[in-house]
Amino acid sequence: MAKALINDGFRVGILGGGQLGKMLALAAQNWELTTWILDASSEFPAAQVCDHFVAGNFKDYDDVYNFGKQVDVLTIEIEHVNTDALLQLEKEGVIVHPSPAALTTIKDKGLQKLFYQAHDLPTSPFQLLDDAAAIKQAIQDGQLQLPFVQKSRTAGYDGKGVAIIRTEADLDNLLMDAPSMIEPLVDIDKELAVIVARNPSGDIQAFPPVEMEFNPTANLVEFLFCPANISTEVADRATQIARQVIEDFNICGLLAVEFFLTNDGEVLINEVAPRPHNSGHHTIDSAITSQFQQHLRAIVDLPLGATDALVPAVMVNLLGAPEHTGPAHYEGLSECIAQPGTHFHIYGKTVTKPFRKMGHATVVDQDLEAAKTKARYINEHLRIVSKEA
Ligand SMILES: Nc1ncnc2c1ncn2[C@@H]1O[C@H](COP(=O)(O)OP(=O)(O)O)[C@@H](O)[C@H]1O
Ligand SMILES: [Mg+2]
Repeated sequence: MAKALINDGFRVGILGGGQLGKMLALAAQNWELTTWILDASSEFPAAQVCDHFVAGNFKDYDDVYNFGKQVDVLTIEIEHVNTDALLQLEKEGVIVHPSPAALTTIKDKGLQKLFYQAHDLPTSPFQLLDDAAAIKQAIQDGQLQLPFVQKSRTAGYDGKGVAIIRTEADLDNLLMDAPSMIEPLVDIDKELAVIVARNPSGDIQAFPPVEMEFNPTANLVEFLFCPANISTEVADRATQIARQVIEDFNICGLLAVEFFLTNDGEVLINEVAPRPHNSGHHTIDSAITSQFQQHLRAIVDLPLGATDALVPAVMVNLLGAPEHTGPAHYEGLSECIAQPGTHFHIYGKTVTKPFRKMGHATVVDQDLEAAKTKARYINEHLRIVSKEA
C-alpha cells in the first residue's frame, strides 16, 4: 500500500517533459504533490512547472532507473521509454503506472494488435511484416493487396510512422523500411476516443466519447468535439469496449482508446495510449474532473472523480504554420482570446515547426455548433510562425 498522500510530500515522477507532463504537473501542484520530470532539456514545457527537473534520456536504462529510485510513484507522458528499467524498479518496490508489462505491449503497435486479437476485442485484421522487402514480397505472393495502411510498429506519433499505400507508385515513394503492422484501409465514418481511468481498487470511470476531426495534410487531430455526434448505442458500445480494454490490460491511470466508427456502424479499436491524451484536453475546461486530475487520482490510489461534462466543448490544436521553423511567435492571439468561452493553453515550446503541437484552445458553449464556429475562427486566425522562416 502506498503511503498516505498529499500531506506526506508524496513524490510523483513523470517520464517526459512535454505538454502532457506540464499539464500533469500543473494538476499536481493543486494538491501539493511533488513532481519530478525526466527529459532531455530544461527548456521543455514541463521543466518550468515541476518541482525537480532531471536532465536525461527516458529511453536509457540507467537514466530511468536512477530517476525512478527518487520517487514514490512513476508515470509517463510518452510510451517510448525504457521499460526494462521500469520492470526493475517495480521489482524493487517503486509503484509504476501504467504497468511496465502493459506498456511493453502498447508501445509496439504489432503487440497491441496481437493483444486485441487474443482478448477478442474488436479491431481491423492485420499482418506483421519485418521490412519493405517483406511487404513487397507479400504483395507478389498475393498475401497482401493494395490499398493498405502501413504503421511503423515502434516509431510513430501524431501521424508520423503511418503511411497510406494506395498505388504501385506509393510502394516506391511512401513505403517505410521498418518492422510494420499492416492493416486494410478502414472505411471510416468518424474517429472517436474514450478516455477511461482505473485505480488500484479496480474502480473504472470513463469520460464521454469525443469525436476527432483530422488535418488532412498532417494526418493529426485538428478539432475535437464533445459530445460526439453519435447515437447512444455507439457511445455505449465505445465506452463498454474502453472499460474492457483497461481491465484486460490491468492498467491503473488513464487509458485513451482511439476508435474508428465505420460506415457500417462497427466500432473498432484503432490504438490506445496509457497516459493523458490530446483527446482529453477539453476536460480541463469543460468537465467536472480533468483528465490530468483523474490520472493523478488513479496513480496515487484515490477515489476517481466524476467524468460528466459540464458544458459542450470544442478543442482546437494550435499547430505550427507550414513552412515555419524557428523561435515561435503567436499572431492573432488577442482576436482569438476575444471569442467568448475560449480557454488558451500555450505549451511554451521555444521552437515552432510545421504542424508541431504548440498549444490548444478549448471553446465552451451551451451550443456546440457555436463553439465549432469560434474554434474554426481560431484555427484560421491564430498563426504560429517564426520570424526567422
Ligand atoms: N486502417 C486505417 N484506415 C484508415 N485510416 C487510418 C487507418 N489507420 C490510421 N488511419 C489514419 O491515420 C491516423 C493516425 O493513425 P494512428 O495509428 O492513430 O497513428 P498515430 O500513432 O500517429 O496516432 C488515424 O487517426 C487515422 O486518421
Ligand atoms: Mg492515433
